[in-house]
Amino acid sequence: MHRRPGCWEINVKNFKVAVALLSFLAGSAFLVSAASPPKLLAWDAVHKEIVCKPGAKSAQFAFSVTNVSPKDVIILRTPTTCGCTVAKLPEEPWVLPPGGSGQIKVTVDLTDKMGTVKKGVFVIISNAPTEMLSVQAAMSVIIPPPTGMSTQDRARNIQLAKANARAIFQGSCADCHVAPSQGRMGGDLYITMCAICHDAGERQASAVPNLRHLKKPVDFNFWKNTIANGVTNSLMPGFAKANGGPLTEAEIQSLAEYLNKTIPPSASVESARQ
Ligand code: HEC
Ligand code: HEC
Repeated sequence: MHRRPGCWEINVKNFKVAVALLSFLAGSAFLVSAASPPKLLAWDAVHKEIVCKPGAKSAQFAFSVTNVSPKDVIILRTPTTCGCTVAKLPEEPWVLPPGGSGQIKVTVDLTDKMGTVKKGVFVIISNAPTEMLSVQAAMSVIIPPPTGMSTQDRARNIQLAKANARAIFQGSCADCHVAPSQGRMGGDLYITMCAICHDAGERQASAVPNLRHLKKPVDFNFWKNTIANGVTNSLMPGFAKANGGPLTEAEIQSLAEYLNKTIPPSASVESARQ
């Protein structure tokens, strides 16, 4: 069905997106240099997005850059916002003559990552202000918008699920909400069965909470019970076979173990105290 190999790329040319994203990454606003003329470097994009299949070990990005100034531009280093992310220059330092161009390759290690991973790259230039790049890798088996669902289909699906949250397990709904999960356990099962709603990125419905920031303490039993029984009168159905869902005891167990490992109880209690 909606399956493609490896990762596939979505380019975002809008600079504002990258600025907003980087401010978000830094946790606060910081100086943005690109507005200051004259422009030395022209990028094919300053923000790149990739969607990866579950189990992908890393996401690769290549940023093409051209020196559009009349002088040499010397890129000294490209540190990143995370130890999991490496931005590689063709050589260090990298001297770009006027009109010269090349690529900066960015690799994000996705081991044990789930949902959407956003990282920033600082391009430190010897004779000009630092420029910023950002990358995003989303792990999903579902093709994201614009090839996703229409607004009308989505509204109709929500209506059906409001009448009966278990609707997602039935008929054509199961093509996306159940079938991709067949034979999967743990993190792979999470990405196919849960992330479709809980890590839907910009499209995520407001009714669907971010599981990493639940305002309550979480632990293994909480995950297990919620997955098995769902939340009454909500769009979150019980997934246990006993509740009309698709998941066996062992599958629920593997999900609860995965979530308990990835979202430690202490971290969530901290955020619950805020
Ligand atoms: C083509 C794949 C696909 C099919 C078929 C599908 N869904 Fe979904 N569903 C998604 C995706 C993807 C999301 C995440 C939000 C988004 O991207 O629109 C989602 C999210 C949801 C949500 C969470 C609320 C929301 O809008 O985010 C509900 C409830 C839901 N679907 C119910 C259903 C029901 C009921 C059916 C069948 C009538 C169904 N879906 C069929 C892919 C699908
Ligand atoms: C069709 C979309 C959808 C899918 C698929 C889905 N959820 Fe949910 N989930 C929701 C919604 C909506 C809520 C909010 C319920 C409420 O109103 O409190 C929720 C809430 C939760 C909560 C918080 C419950 C609480 O007490 O605060 C957990 C934990 C959770 N989901 C885990 C999962 C896991 C694990 C999976 C995969 C097995 C999953 N969900 C699949 C829609 C979904």
